[in-house]
Amino acid sequence: MHVDLVLNGELTAIECADNELILDVVRERLGLTGTKRSCDMEVCGSCTVLLDGLAASACTTLVAEADGKELVTIEGLSDGDELNPVQQAFVDHAAVQCGFCTPGMIMSVQALAMDHPDADDETISEYLSGTICRCTGYVKILEAARQVISE
Ligand code: FES
Ligand code: FES
Repeated sequence: MHVDLVLNGELTAIECADNELILDVVRERLGLTGTKRSCDMEVCGSCTVLLDGLAASACTTLVAEADGKELVTIEGLSDGDELNPVQQAFVDHAAVQCGFCTPGMIMSVQALAMDHPDADDETISEYLSGTICRCTGYVKILEAARQVISE
């Protein structure tokens, strides 16, 4: 099938099978390896992307579902070497250890900032709960998310 979408700001045409997943296409065919694969069953959040501004699991979302939509991966957030505010907040608060969950975590906070610019801690925690971090203990991630919300 043929899919037209806006990928990280660029009009993109993709020929794909009906059952191809966004995660496979962005990582294996388009070289956008910032989106991570772990559980492959919409549990860990490491593959989180934005589809029309909403957080979506790339491991369970078909490319076909992105037809006519805007898809943003972690590579689409920065402006060249300039980090976006969420990425910068993670750097400022050292909210990274091994880094595996970080792209998904950043995409979740990006979705949060767009959906709830005045989010309280409960709402922040709700958004972060969709992404599992095995390293940091979440405190610094929460601090980074708070910085984004307060800006
Ligand atoms: S790899 Fe998609 S949610 Fe875990
Ligand atoms: S920083 Fe290692 S899994 Fe989150």
